[in-house]
Amino acid sequence: MPAPNRKLRILVSAGPTREPLDPVRYLSNRSSGRMGYAIAGAAQQRGHAVSLVSGPVALPPPDGVIRIPVVTALEMLAALRAALPAHEVLIMAAAVADWRPEAVSPVKTKKQAIIGDGMTLALVRNPDILATLHPLKGNRLFVGFAAETGDPVGEGWRKLHAKGLDLLLANDVSRPDAGFEAPTNRVSLLAADGTREDWPLMQKTDLAVRLLERIETRFK
Ligand code: PMT
Repeated sequence: MPAPNRKLRILVSAGPTREPLDPVRYLSNRSSGRMGYAIAGAAQQRGHAVSLVSGPVALPPPDGVIRIPVVTALEMLAALRAALPAHEVLIMAAAVADWRPEAVSPVKTKKQAIIGDGMTLALVRNPDILATLHPLKGNRLFVGFAAETGDPVGEGWRKLHAKGLDLLLANDVSRPDAGFEAPTNRVSLLAADGTREDWPLMQKTDLAVRLLERIETRFK
């Protein structure tokens, strides 16, 4: 008889971050949160304790999952840093904005205040959350994604090594049936030991279960 799964404490990030320009405008991306919420929901249903750090999305939290809402990349980093010590697994499905406006206006920027037809935005780099949290990794399992518009596997290997990850799911976000917003996804699962699995197109909910099976095996 297979050994029952050990109950794990799993921290998941999901959704986009929003980087405000002023009280009415922001920079963001197309993440709907579906991938991360599917992972959080499947993990909870499999008996794990799940915390979900979520950027702004239109989805309700999965039953039984603690949701910690955030808006910006800096808020997401702070929430994950505070939650990480109580978890054994971190799964970064969030699409974190790599850049934020250098200055945030406290009032709506008026068209009339801009001279000419163009406008230049000064941006500063956001911290890489996975790289920033890596010194706290210890024996924890770190799982990331690579969202690419070409050669997801090549870039996936690079990111897996650069960010010190145990597992990485590489997805081609230029496909209409994968990556952002779609209910389905197609990924290659890359592991730090050099192994690779190419999964077929499937529902994000099924992909989440398959990922959790792989994670659970590592704690047997
Ligand atoms: O939310 P959905 O609409 O369902 O879409 C799902 C998804 C496309 C968002 C998801 O499948 C996905 O690919 N998530 C990762 C998106 C991303 O930011 O990929 P990246 O290649 O830019 O980043 C690589 C990894 O580093 C990711 O795990 C990311 O969370 C993390 N990262 C990125 C930037 C940053 N400043 N800090 C990070 O930790």
